[in-house]
Amino acid sequence: MKNIVLIGFMGVGKGRIGRELAKNLGTFALDCDDLLQSANNAKIKEIFAEFGEEYFRKQEKNLAIFLEKNVKNAVISTGGGFYRVPNLKKIGKIIYLKSDFESIINAINSSPNAQKKIAKRPLLSNLTAAKELFLKREKEYEALANITIDVRKKSTKDIILQIKKGLK
Ligand code: S3P
Repeated sequence: MKNIVLIGFMGVGKGRIGRELAKNLGTFALDCDDLLQSANNAKIKEIFAEFGEEYFRKQEKNLAIFLEKNVKNAVISTGGGFYRVPNLKKIGKIIYLKSDFESIINAINSSPNAQKKIAKRPLLSNLTAAKELFLKREKEYEALANITIDVRKKSTKDIILQIKKGLK
């Protein structure tokens, strides 16, 4: 098995689905944001605030090279902008978790820790800018994906089943 790489917009559920998929497949889940946080010993929002977005994107590129060279058989959840790394397709099979902007924001706002979910994502602080980013990215996500899964109104269990079906 090659790695499975989950891409998609902030808040769509890449982390949660990645962990559940890894458990289901009996392998390990890696989360790019977690790896970058531990590499920098800082939270994502601190990295953005202290060093800026450009630095963060460079770190994502370095991580992508590390993953391509060193990781096999894992489920990798990416941050929403990670898909732009030049070697994405060399890391593994790309699965795009698709939704629409309003559904994503509604899901975040109705979760018990909504404030925390918004506060940890610098690019969600301005909703108008975030929607523009979404509209620009959605076509790019889909173009890169080997498999696109519409996650709207689906349970995590159904999403996992659909991913596994798509991988066969
Ligand atoms: C980002 C998404 C975030 C995180 C960073 C930038 C983006 O990850 O990598 O805040 O550019 O969309 P999530 O997609 O897990 O929120």
